[in-house]
Amino acid sequence: MTMMSMRSILTRRTLATVASKAAPVAPRLKTFKIYRWNPDKPAEKAKLEDYQVDLNECGPMVLDALIKIKDEQDPTLTFRRSCREGICGSCAMNIGGRNTLACLCKIDQNESKKLKIYPLPHMYIVRDLVPDLTNFYQQYKSIKPYLQRKSFPEDGKEVLQSIDDRKKLDGLYECILCACCSTSCPSYWWNQEEYLGPAVLLQAFRWLIDSRDQAGQERRQMLQNSMSLYRCHTIMNCTRTCPKGLNPGKAIAEIKKQMAFT
Ligand code: SF4
Ligand code: SF4
Ligand code: FES
Repeated sequence: MTMMSMRSILTRRTLATVASKAAPVAPRLKTFKIYRWNPDKPAEKAKLEDYQVDLNECGPMVLDALIKIKDEQDPTLTFRRSCREGICGSCAMNIGGRNTLACLCKIDQNESKKLKIYPLPHMYIVRDLVPDLTNFYQQYKSIKPYLQRKSFPEDGKEVLQSIDDRKKLDGLYECILCACCSTSCPSYWWNQEEYLGPAVLLQAFRWLIDSRDQAGQERRQMLQNSMSLYRCHTIMNCTRTCPKGLNPGKAIAEIKKQMAFT
């Protein structure tokens, strides 16, 4: 063995010894106050439960903390999640007073600030952070969210769309139906049986503006009543909260324009 390689082995060993003797990193404990409600224990009222998480040992997002709490402290904590990258929409909840996706929401690294987490507001709750989205999905189904055609190309091939017409779908097709916008809308809170809400109306506009769709008249007819569309009073909470940066308030305004001029 040469002098050089011996020296480098000694240096590595010295560094390893120093590292093993280094003072342990102090934990950075942050308190998460999480809404809990269990339908199997009806006598117990809903409450906020405190969990402490060491930020040194946790990933950067709120969903990381929730998964860590469930894995290491309380397996009964219930929430939805799937993709962990803002695509499936299932981890929508109210974090620090704002509806957003837990997997896209960074944990405020200030340990002294407690973080409150609730389910999406003004919804029936299945358990803990899981809202009942049955009505929301039925409303989505009601707008017939698929291409409707009365005629098809004679050559039997696909229905074509120009590049400019395709561009009109940008800002609409990206919606992941997380329901953050609808559940931040005061009009939806008070009228969610009849008012379709910003998420479903953004989807309705997505089909109304699609150059390949031939059911525009029927789609507009369906919205022609006092409740489905016109409960929107342009408060714009929906646009402020959308975790995908979409603008459902504008989509609703565009539908109103179409209704007025066709
Ligand atoms: S518009 Fe935004 S907030 Fe509303 S459902 Fe779609 S992605 Fe979620
Ligand atoms: S703009 Fe319309 S849909 Fe959006 S929050 Fe306001 S009332 Fe609700
Ligand atoms: S887990 Fe899919 S959007 Fe958050």
